[in-house]
Amino acid sequence: MKKILIVDDEKMIRWTLSQALKSWGYMPIEIATISDALETYANEMPQAVLLDIDLPDGSGLDLLRDIKREHPEAIVIMITGNVRVETTISALRGGAYDFISKPVHLEELKVSIRNALEAHELRQEVKQIRRERSSKFSFDQIIGDSPKMLQMLSLAKKVAESEVGSVLLQGESGTGKDLVAKAIHYTSRRADKPFVAINCAAIPSNLVESELFGYERGAFTDAKSRKEGLFEQAEGGTLLLDEIGEMELGLQAKLLRVLEEGVFRRVGGLKDIPLDVRVIAASNRDLKSESMEGRFRLDLYYRLSVIQIDIPPLRERDDDVLLLAKYYLETLGERVRPTKKFQGFSPEVIQIFRQYEWAGNVRELRNVVERCLILEDENTITTNYLPHNLLTPPGRSFVENTHDEDKEFSLTLPKDGISLEEVEDSLVHQAIEQCHGNQTHAARLLGITRDQLRYRLKKLPV
Ligand SMILES: Nc1ncnc2c1ncn2[C@@H]1O[C@H](COP(=O)(O)OP(=O)(O)O)[C@@H](O)[C@H]1O
Ligand SMILES: [Mg+2]
Repeated sequence: MKKILIVDDEKMIRWTLSQALKSWGYMPIEIATISDALETYANEMPQAVLLDIDLPDGSGLDLLRDIKREHPEAIVIMITGNVRVETTISALRGGAYDFISKPVHLEELKVSIRNALEAHELRQEVKQIRRERSSKFSFDQIIGDSPKMLQMLSLAKKVAESEVGSVLLQGESGTGKDLVAKAIHYTSRRADKPFVAINCAAIPSNLVESELFGYERGAFTDAKSRKEGLFEQAEGGTLLLDEIGEMELGLQAKLLRVLEEGVFRRVGGLKDIPLDVRVIAASNRDLKSESMEGRFRLDLYYRLSVIQIDIPPLRERDDDVLLLAKYYLETLGERVRPTKKFQGFSPEVIQIFRQYEWAGNVRELRNVVERCLILEDENTITTNYLPHNLLTPPGRSFVENTHDEDKEFSLTLPKDGISLEEVEDSLVHQAIEQCHGNQTHAARLLGITRDQLRYRLKKLPV
């Protein structure tokens, strides 16, 4: 039963209130003086307090402040015959939930208590959810011990603690950009405000603007009523602009203005609306070279890159790949194969994991481990069910030391010769396959430019 503390020096009033509270299903606790109110509060931890202002041994306003100082969550409803405006104001400033004048109208009190308790419960629930969420998206959830990751994480943590208004997050697909963006938001002082994300590549470019800024009624034919944009929805929080490299140049100019001036306009609107939103722009392309080639606005790039966080690709993270593999073995194992407990990975798998290029980064690793967890018959993860492309990396059969750039590799020419053109075509093909169609990456593997690769792809027999 919910306890409600009544602090009033008039016995008659305490009695009346007690009777009423009981009939509404609460458990009243009565006290007449300020002196032991704090202690009683701490002992009983009531859900709410009904507090008189004029008490024989002091002012209820002082008690209100003391209670709120020690229990900021406390719900205090002031009850008084003294209805001067200053008193009311100072009670509300002191954190009183409501203010009820004597003689107490019981229905009014009933509603006030009910509202207060409901609001309180809701707040507690929201807090609980946020607590769960912020532990789910904290930096602790980001696995990695390699120097490059530690350096990246230390920068990201500094950003989270700071008030910096915009950040550029760069990393190949699957390196953890989403994860880092959420960790920044949920460990920043913005954590209890919204985290909103938009993928600029997933929305037709002509709609991105109204998604971001909202629109006024009549801004265009379909605009029947005003619509809030994501900038407004994220007020006080963080807005993730994913794949910002895909944003139209015209809209990039508008975004730059918003970042510089801290105000925006709805589509079709005339009024500048101030905003308090941290923008995290994410890209899997190198925006600097994109802007050098005219595909991204240089001025926006400079603005965003004041604070730039680069997430290293998995192949540059030393043994993080093994750490992550183990992490997924444990966390996914329980979910996808609860009946089986795997011991670990076979030495051969470990060797392959270390050498593989991981073009899809952590996302690819996670999928590979998940697949093995589902299919493996042994008690350790073996090569039995590794996807084909991990087992036969390109050139492995005849190219040695592919991962040691200092050493020269050697090819053995078969006795009866081989067609050079076919070898080249096959290597191009394998590179594209290994990089899941990512041409920039494939070109790098082959040591040629992207244009050269494109040219070769064109003349590749199909
Ligand atoms: N360092 C990491 N530790 C744990 N999980 C990670 C890490 N990096 C990425 N992941 C996981 O890999 C997947 C892809 O990450 P995501 O943040 O969506 O990548 P991106 O946005 O860069 O494409 C997600 O399931 C994410 O939880
Ligand atoms: Mg992403």
